Amino acid sequence: MAGGHSLLLENAQQVVLVCARGERFLARDALRSLAVLEGASLVVGKDGFIKAIGPADVIQRQFSGETFEEIIDCSGKCILPGLVDAHTHPVWAGERVHEFAMKLAGATYMEIHQAGGGIHFTVERTRQATEEELFRSLQQRLQCMMRAGTTLVECKSGYGLDLETELKMLRVIERARRELDIGISATYCGAHSVPKGKTATEAADDIINNHLPKLKELGRNGEIHVDNIDVFCEKGVFDLDSTRRILQRGKNIGLQINFHGDELHPMKAAELGAELGAQAISHLEEVSGEGIVAMATARCSAILLPTTAYMLRLKQPRARKMLDEGVIVALGSDFNPNAYCFSMPMVMHLACVNMRMSMPEALAAATINAAYALGKSHTHGSLEVGKQGDLIIINSSRWEHLIYQFGGHHELIEYVIAKGKLI
Ligand code: NIG
Ligand code: FE
Repeated sequence: MAGGHSLLLENAQQVVLVCARGERFLARDALRSLAVLEGASLVVGKDGFIKAIGPADVIQRQFSGETFEEIIDCSGKCILPGLVDAHTHPVWAGERVHEFAMKLAGATYMEIHQAGGGIHFTVERTRQATEEELFRSLQQRLQCMMRAGTTLVECKSGYGLDLETELKMLRVIERARRELDIGISATYCGAHSVPKGKTATEAADDIINNHLPKLKELGRNGEIHVDNIDVFCEKGVFDLDSTRRILQRGKNIGLQINFHGDELHPMKAAELGAELGAQAISHLEEVSGEGIVAMATARCSAILLPTTAYMLRLKQPRARKMLDEGVIVALGSDFNPNAYCFSMPMVMHLACVNMRMSMPEALAAATINAAYALGKSHTHGSLEVGKQGDLIIINSSRWEHLIYQFGGHHELIEYVIAKGKLI
């Protein structure tokens, strides 16, 4: 039907705006309760952006006589922002379910990694895979994420390590960004592991002298758009000095710093990230007290990954301490062959139960704060007029069901809408 607007979502029991005053993130007291409207409607324009939100009767009067491509009766349901997954490794080939069995039998993540498994195992298979194979599996994984409510996702490279395979992965991510409905923030993670036969210093030199100049060139030509640079800063992987050199050079070519730090050992990664002006640091199970304060002061967000601590039976990151100190806490699924989880509702549930976050804190962390961690909270992460029409409709009269329920989210999440389009 030819119409003036794309979507009218009518008379929802609750519309969870998350925030309503153009905030770029929520921290401290702002997290006590989120902005929620009762009995409200929402209009998305044909351009895919939110045009109006307000009490159902007001919206009805305002848009009476106008036509819509789709009208959804949301009585008894809730509308929430599309979820933002701030950390995933979704491009790879090869199956690592056997390592889950090894971990259940007591092997640690690093024991498997040092014996040539883990990332090394996936690197070998990803190098052998064709670009088309990698794209097909990425597409399937992103579809699973969307069905679980994710509308914006960070996607890392990092299972190539050599320039050729890293570029292959980034081309696959670029194709997904152009062809699929889900929003993508692309991350170059060539420093995910030290390639066999090289030292960390040699690998860092290769990245700085060869990989990053190539990325800069491809970005300038408009061939591949990369948003973020990542390094696995860890004992036995990239030490603090190599991490600093790589991240600094990445920043110099215009990438946002967003890296793995303080996961298995205290590395002072948080202090380094704050000093370099990082947008975000992930994991942080072993962050120091000083690192937490430094991150809060620098407005460097903490991307917490409850699936990793759960899967590897690590100590939980100190989410409460970070929240109390005013850190901008975000969440990610860390989807990868080690943590095989597509679902941000499950991630929020784990964050609440295992990391003692409240439900408003968890939802903010999976929406506006995750968008902040990707440098996209001016357009994503909340339901506000002018923002992108990314939202989900759940078949429950209380929004908290999205977190309370664990498992079976496909029945609960009735509609997923990305860029104003019903998926
Ligand atoms: O975030 N810690 C490093 N990277 C991933 C794991 C990748 C893998 O095991 O394949 C993570 O958990
Ligand atoms: Fe990761």
